[in-house]
Amino acid sequence: MTLQIAIDGPAASGKSTDAKLLAERINGLYVNTGLMYRAVAGAAYNLGIDPEKNPQELVKLLPQWTLEYRLDNDANKLELFFNDKPVDNAFLRSKEVSDVVSQVAAIPEVRDWMLQKQRDCAKLPIIIMEGRDIQTVVLPNATYKFFITASAEERARRRLKQGDFKDGTTLKEVAEQIKLRDHLDSTRAVAPLKPAADSLVINTDNMTPDEVVDKMVEHMQKNPRQ
Ligand code: DC
Repeated sequence: MTLQIAIDGPAASGKSTDAKLLAERINGLYVNTGLMYRAVAGAAYNLGIDPEKNPQELVKLLPQWTLEYRLDNDANKLELFFNDKPVDNAFLRSKEVSDVVSQVAAIPEVRDWMLQKQRDCAKLPIIIMEGRDIQTVVLPNATYKFFITASAEERARRRLKQGDFKDGTTLKEVAEQIKLRDHLDSTRAVAPLKPAADSLVINTDNMTPDEVVDKMVEHMQKNPRQ
């Protein structure tokens, strides 16, 4: 049986860093599902589609598109391909795409379209899948479930440190943006952000990524799968 580890949590909680680090520690494959939503949001942006005003314009294009994670040449990493081309990570992380991705991720048909693609990745031997609804919707039977969180202020601090903000952007402004994203992601009608009942919630406020991964590994050692 494959080992499936589902990691969810709010924006800027550090879950991507933690998930990547965990994948390195246990020789697993890391799947970033946020990037999959960003790929669709990027395509909509390039076509000038407003996902909030005209979601159906986007929905009708979905059957023509392909999106898949493929193993790289050394078979130790996964790379995302949209319509058979590797995605442009810098563009998908830009402000333009970040501004529309929550709206794209709230479209039920987009989530449906995504589900099988994400489940296909979980057929690989050791998978660490990170997102917002992995433990509740995509892999409800995952072997281990972790919900990584931190206060809005701490998450704003981490975001600011990463750089890409206009000069003079304040901690308070970033914290406000983060709270807005949390609100959009946790109150949407389909697959809202929330921990599964059997998830280990980790508040990472005073923890380094290594400490978070230590905690996850410790939890898995204490709870060997049946
Ligand atoms: O983790 P991220 O910031 O790259 O995610 C981008 C957006 O996609 C964010 O608004 C939440 C959404 N998302 C989602 O709804 N479900 C997932 N499994 C992953 C991301």
